[in-house]
Amino acid sequence: TPEKEPLKPGDILVYAQGGGEPKPIRPEELKPGDPFVLAYPMDPKTKVVKSGEAKNTVLVVRYNPGELSPEVAQNGVEGIVAYSAVCTHLGCIVSQWVADKKAGLCPCHGGIYDFAHGARVIAGPPPRPVPQLPLKVEEGVLVAAGEFLGEVGVKAEAGFCRHV
Ligand code: FES
Repeated sequence: TPEKEPLKPGDILVYAQGGGEPKPIRPEELKPGDPFVLAYPMDPKTKVVKSGEAKNTVLVVRYNPGELSPEVAQNGVEGIVAYSAVCTHLGCIVSQWVADKKAGLCPCHGGIYDFAHGARVIAGPPPRPVPQLPLKVEEGVLVAAGEFLGEVGVKAEAGFCRHV
């Protein structure tokens, strides 16, 4: 089904929550220090939201540009960066914001990712960062500028999520 198609460069990022019409994310809606938002890619032509595949879940968060490491900033826009939200440990969704660390928490086993520095793992069992998704702005909304910069989710040899 089209909802299960993988994310492609050029897809528009829309808010995962909300229901109703898909709502593309506009940069000015995100503020540095605010929690990340979860998003799905939407095909720009068919307007199909690809929410049928967990691996398409993306998180989007804004930092002050000076807080970001240079490589991370390069793949973002105006301090806004995006990553896969699929935990590299056992595949849960990284869904909580740790305000004092400006980082994301996977509630399954407490993995914490520092998105300002390439989603390096600062706590818990995840074996590697979640991959970054390059971003650009087109017609005022956030768009995937490329593929994920690494493998999404659990590496094949590590097994699949047993928590869903
Ligand atoms: Fe995320 Fe285990 S699945 S920490």
